[in-house]
Amino acid sequence: MFGSIDHTAIAVADLDASIAFYAEVMGMTLTRREELLSQGVEVALFNVGDSSIELLAPLGPETAVGRFLQKRGPGLHHVAYRVDDIDTELAVLAAKGVRLIDERPRIGIEGSRIAFIHPSSMGGVLTELVQPQPRVPVPDRAFRSRR
Ligand code: CO
Repeated sequence: MFGSIDHTAIAVADLDASIAFYAEVMGMTLTRREELLSQGVEVALFNVGDSSIELLAPLGPETAVGRFLQKRGPGLHHVAYRVDDIDTELAVLAAKGVRLIDERPRIGIEGSRIAFIHPSSMGGVLTELVQPQPRVPVPDRAFRSRR
């Protein structure tokens, strides 16, 4: 099941300027800023209710977001849905013929598990699934499940 919109991602050329805009003009709170070297991006997250706006700046021109900016300029990059069980969702979508970029999840921001769906199957919208890292520690959860 798709639980909610986890985040909407926007490609930006100047991360500092964009952070200043969202913080000072839009009045949003920056909750996290981190480099994801494996994806060639620096990410800034702003909370919007139970969801987030994810600003993506490329770490170089030959990264995926770098090429996106050269081709299309700054703007909407992808939409991400929150799911409970990303392995099951990917298997269900693949069985329905949906074209996946990631057949297996990889690690995203804050230890989440993520996978991308190809825009050609999604009406031109790059789409991400996010299974957040559980906030309850695993030993505690194991303890509770035994009761
Ligand atoms: Co994302």
